[in-house]
Amino acid sequence: MNKKELRQQFPITQKFTYLNHAGTGPLSSRARKVIDDCLCIYQQQAEFDLDDYWRRIHNARLIVARLLGAQCNEIAFTANTSEGIFIGLSNLPLKGGDKIIVMDEVFPAVRYVVDNNFPHLDKIYVSFAGRSGVDVVSRYLDDHVRVVVVDYVQYLSGSMIDIDELGKFLHERDIYLVVDGIQAIGAVECDLSRGNVDILACGAAKWLLGPSGIGFVYVNKGLWQDLKKIHTGWLGADWRDFYDCSKRPLMYEDARKFEIGTRNVMGILALVENIQIILELGIQHVHNEIIVLKNRLREELKKRGCTIITPESGPQSGILTIQHPESNRVFQRLIESKVMISLRSGNLRFSPHFYNTVEEIEFASRQFDPRYY
Ligand SMILES: Cc1ncc(COP(=O)(O)O)c(C=O)c1O
Repeated sequence: MNKKELRQQFPITQKFTYLNHAGTGPLSSRARKVIDDCLCIYQQQAEFDLDDYWRRIHNARLIVARLLGAQCNEIAFTANTSEGIFIGLSNLPLKGGDKIIVMDEVFPAVRYVVDNNFPHLDKIYVSFAGRSGVDVVSRYLDDHVRVVVVDYVQYLSGSMIDIDELGKFLHERDIYLVVDGIQAIGAVECDLSRGNVDILACGAAKWLLGPSGIGFVYVNKGLWQDLKKIHTGWLGADWRDFYDCSKRPLMYEDARKFEIGTRNVMGILALVENIQIILELGIQHVHNEIIVLKNRLREELKKRGCTIITPESGPQSGILTIQHPESNRVFQRLIESKVMISLRSGNLRFSPHFYNTVEEIEFASRQFDPRYY
């Protein structure tokens, strides 16, 4: 598929220069069609035929697993990232007084879950800014540290952690690694097959192009037998049909046990349709496209004297953030020109995806010429 065809999958391109995938990713037409088909089924026959339902859910799990280099039973569907972080931290075999190291720069989603649901854990927030994950945590390790929680990609600066290296380091010390993946998955290659990450939670709403209100959590198979059963319910069991509910099937012994009740099938199927687009293009290709656009943007904005806060060296995410003395005015100008980005704490955050073009990057950059704002 060439870029023109690809862009037809994203009607938003007709209206906006949309460079805000770290904010919210727009739904593809393919995913919308899947939602329309689901609505038709709900309207005309109330529910999916059971065999079709199981087949679709299994296939959806396979598609998410393929994106992550995981196994299909390592995936449970959730409503969002926060739910996945909650499931992970609730089910790790931790006890009162165990210590948890949390990246200080996490998006509030992780912070709210950690601070409000785990009063029995001793939390320390440490800054990862500008340093490797291993460097940071090695300074804070003691016998009580049992978990480290990080954002794979920091939502503001776009700096990215090498979660494989960090997880390996932690596993050698019997410490778990829990990752918020929402700012990375769909934009960067992620291979969890080496088993160095324990939990990775991700929502669909950003780089996976929606829809909002659906997500997944990866639960490393090496953990299954040690995990508790919190946030587990009837659909965490191996039902084949519902003709005789007095015969209760056993719970799954894998990630699926965390699917507590009736699933958001429409969300799941639309999400995996978007993931299919990414897999058909190849995640490496997707990442390369993003990096080409990001490099060009960096170049153009540097030329115009912007201060770029996103690290230039090290692994690259899809985010490029800058500081500008007139950030509010430039942001308004961008909106007037139908260029969509995010304004965060006075910083301007760009996040292009694979279907954006160099021409769009040039157009967005031109809005920084002083005569415009
Ligand atoms: C790093 C990060 N984590 C999580 C979220 C959102 O969390 P949730 O999917 O639970 O709404 C965001 C942005 O909205 C984010 O940038």
